Amino acid sequence: MRTLSSAVEHLVHIEGAVGSNPTVSTKLMNNKLKDFHHYKGQDLSRFEKVERRVIDLIQESKIDDSKREDSIVWEFMHASGCMQIGRLLAEKRNLDVDIASVICVLHDIYTIVNGTYKNHGPLGAQLAEKILLEIGEFTDDEIKIITDAVYHHSEKEIYSKEPYVELVKDVDVFDCSLYKNAEGFYKLHKPEAIYNEYASRIKKIREELGLSPDKVFR
Ligand SMILES: [Fe+2]
Repeated sequence: MRTLSSAVEHLVHIEGAVGSNPTVSTKLMNNKLKDFHHYKGQDLSRFEKVERRVIDLIQESKIDDSKREDSIVWEFMHASGCMQIGRLLAEKRNLDVDIASVICVLHDIYTIVNGTYKNHGPLGAQLAEKILLEIGEFTDDEIKIITDAVYHHSEKEIYSKEPYVELVKDVDVFDCSLYKNAEGFYKLHKPEAIYNEYASRIKKIREELGLSPDKVFR
């Protein structure tokens, strides 16, 4: 039986060998395995193109942190964290993982580009639509689902019947809840009713993910 460290070594060995070893390459082809591009090159799905575009926009930002409501590092961490949590929750809820992933990575796009949260849901929906149209491979229905979710994601106190709108609201608060002192931030900067709403959403998601119900924030 392989120990954990030898298993890791084995995997590292395989990964390193894939590009150069014709035997491994042939095995990949025979097994119909598709190699992972790590977001390099042009072999990206339309969803991955959006995800890369958002990270490019973060990297290319010329707005200094002193002029941003949050740092650009935060924007990177929050966009990436939300994207992954969105994939998990979408799988749990039998929703489309790619659509959820794109909604979550785009949800704060207006803040990423402009540094402010003022009306960032509705304004972000416009930016999200522009990006989706530029990538050019999305149907009208998909664009509507994605931009509606971005538009409404700040309305945490409203519980709609739209699964992707509710998913991104849940993902947004849950990702933030995993940072130290998020509770203090919400208590200091949000009205009590909004704080309570956030806490109740986070509790619900923790339960859904099988996490301890005894705490809300980290
Ligand atoms: Fe957010």
